[in-house]
Amino acid sequence: MQPDKTEAQKWAKELLSQMTLPEKVAQLMQISCQHMSMEDVEMWVRDRAVGSVLHAVGEDALKVQRWALQSRLKIPVLYGIDAVHGHALHNGAQVYPSPLAMACSFDAELLEKVARATAMEVAEDGIHWTFSPLLCLARDTRWGRVGETFGEDGYLAGEMGAAMVRGYQGKDLQDDGSIMACAKHYIAYGEANGGRDSYDAQISMRKVRETFLPPFKRVIEEGCASVMTAYHAIDGTPCTANHEILNQILRSELGFDGLLVTDWDNVRSLVTKQLVCETFEQASKATLETTHDLIMYSTEFYDATIALVKEGALAESVLDDAVMRMLLIKYRIGLITNPKKVRTEQSAAYQYIGCEAHRRLGEEASEKSIVLLKNNGVLPLNADESIFLTGPNADDELATLGDWSFFTHPCPDFSRKPKDTIYTLRRGLQAISANFTYRKGCDLEGCTPQQLEEAILEAKKASVSICVVGDGFYQMGEHYDRSDLSLPESQRKLLETLKENGNKLIVVLLASKPLCLDWAKEHADAIVCLFNPGQQGGLAFADMLFGKTQPEGKLPISFPRNAGQIPVYYNQLPGWHAIHYCDLPKGPLYTFGDGMSYTTYQYSRLTLSSDCAKEADTITVSVDVTNTGSRDGTEIVQLYIHDRVASILQPVLSLKDFARVQLKKGETKTITFRLPIQKLAIVNAKECTVVEKGMFDIYAGPSADITKLLCAPLKVE
Ligand code: GLC
Repeated sequence: MQPDKTEAQKWAKELLSQMTLPEKVAQLMQISCQHMSMEDVEMWVRDRAVGSVLHAVGEDALKVQRWALQSRLKIPVLYGIDAVHGHALHNGAQVYPSPLAMACSFDAELLEKVARATAMEVAEDGIHWTFSPLLCLARDTRWGRVGETFGEDGYLAGEMGAAMVRGYQGKDLQDDGSIMACAKHYIAYGEANGGRDSYDAQISMRKVRETFLPPFKRVIEEGCASVMTAYHAIDGTPCTANHEILNQILRSELGFDGLLVTDWDNVRSLVTKQLVCETFEQASKATLETTHDLIMYSTEFYDATIALVKEGALAESVLDDAVMRMLLIKYRIGLITNPKKVRTEQSAAYQYIGCEAHRRLGEEASEKSIVLLKNNGVLPLNADESIFLTGPNADDELATLGDWSFFTHPCPDFSRKPKDTIYTLRRGLQAISANFTYRKGCDLEGCTPQQLEEAILEAKKASVSICVVGDGFYQMGEHYDRSDLSLPESQRKLLETLKENGNKLIVVLLASKPLCLDWAKEHADAIVCLFNPGQQGGLAFADMLFGKTQPEGKLPISFPRNAGQIPVYYNQLPGWHAIHYCDLPKGPLYTFGDGMSYTTYQYSRLTLSSDCAKEADTITVSVDVTNTGSRDGTEIVQLYIHDRVASILQPVLSLKDFARVQLKKGETKTITFRLPIQKLAIVNAKECTVVEKGMFDIYAGPSADITKLLCAPLKVE
């Protein structure tokens, strides 16, 4: 039941008329419980009636809401939190695989279930809003935040993001277990030059519309209730003060009427980092005039904005518009109509946070996120194999969970790492009583002669070595961009030592992003990619290792051979003279959509319902997929297109649909996609979205490797 808009308008207008200027300004501010003393939080909440709080969980969240209800107008506080792969900032909640790992499932239903379960846990904490899904595209793997994305493709990011919006927001935002989603970071945040977090993206607005806007458009159509502006600038204009992307595109063209929040301390950044405003008054004015409703953390905004209005430098109507949107959002999510949303006491024991059903869902997500990149027959292992498990990330809780987990954010506190509920790969093998020995083998960035000697000894005794390589906390996330994606010397040395002294070698990448696995591709018997597999990652890995389950994931992101080869995303443009660097083979080490299973599949009979169509038409694209292997499995079928000739360069391939298909061994199924011709539209040089007449290639197959795709021509007339 959507709230009665007239009722909401009436309530908001009445309340606005009672608010003083300072109360209006405070209503547009969000403060952090982790970056202020609770005495300061109490002053902001009870005495100034601040509108929103972030980074408060458990008792802190209840206490703050009690203060809000003691303020003059008793307007409840709106809580936000980074629940980006589970309610993971709450110690004891279920932590799912990273968004990048879950994108490997290409399973929108799974992500909707994960988001729904997360919403139940977040709401149980009395919190109303998660700063998720992140829709940035990871096209430069040097960037620190690749692990928080759904990979390099806008269509996949849009579908995964829309699924999470459905899960978070449920049928009605007023419902107890529903929370507000937040599409972030608007826009093209991952495209900053050089993979440098929060730097400038030197791209055109046409590029923004063509490549980065589609996932945001997709989730806004899904009803996403809030958007977060990005830190960076686009061609010199900070997003926070960017009329074209905010007032023009987001508000006017997309018709977004939800809550627009800045990212962390962005008002201050305009003054102190991006140096486009001399004073906080100028920065506050610029942020309000680009229709922001909530200012995250920049507390100088309070005095600056009160002064602006008193001096007549800012029309109070601009303020009132934002306050109205804030009040209407609070009404829409039930803070006024559903008392259960305004938690001041924790009545009973937690029913959802960390519950068994969510643990099981976590294991399903971990299982579907595993990508097998190489297998010369060594996998699945026989039960009698003697295993040597080693590597810096074989038993590391942080690497297993990934960023935005309770001890990494908002203020890193590694002492809070619980040991018993996180299934590292080592604990996963222990859980099934596998026959294995474990030695760390090396640290992330170093190894001792003794570590290598132990590794040699154990590798000689074992029939198979499993080496888990990757990155760590200080190489992932905000601020941690990398110039070099090679495995550190210590990890390469360990791999070489195992190869020289051991028997079969399985390399496992447990990392926040693609690292350069060129050595492993040449020398390992198998390569498994987990990214950050989540709390049950070790259990899912152990089941896959011995064939109880099988790997079915596919890469949502391409693997560069080295950092110098970037960008290597699959949807490259034509025209590169040599199409590869003179010192590198053509193409990435692994491409978008790559991923093997323990069974095999064959594609045949690609058929279009018509080989000629008009702009308003929809055709169907059918392809047969046969399970040609020895066990049942699930294949992820992908549909791509290529515009042969267009008025502006077009990618050599563009993903337009995908489907997970279950096939018994020997079974053949016909998969049929609906393809509206509108999906072939491009953004031309005048920034108009148009379908141009001409010839297109329609592809279907297992990955973006064009040699594996079936193709059929289509004429648009
Ligand atoms: C951070 C991140 C953003 C997050 C916000 C609140 O700096 O950029 O993704 O949601 O601040 O924690």
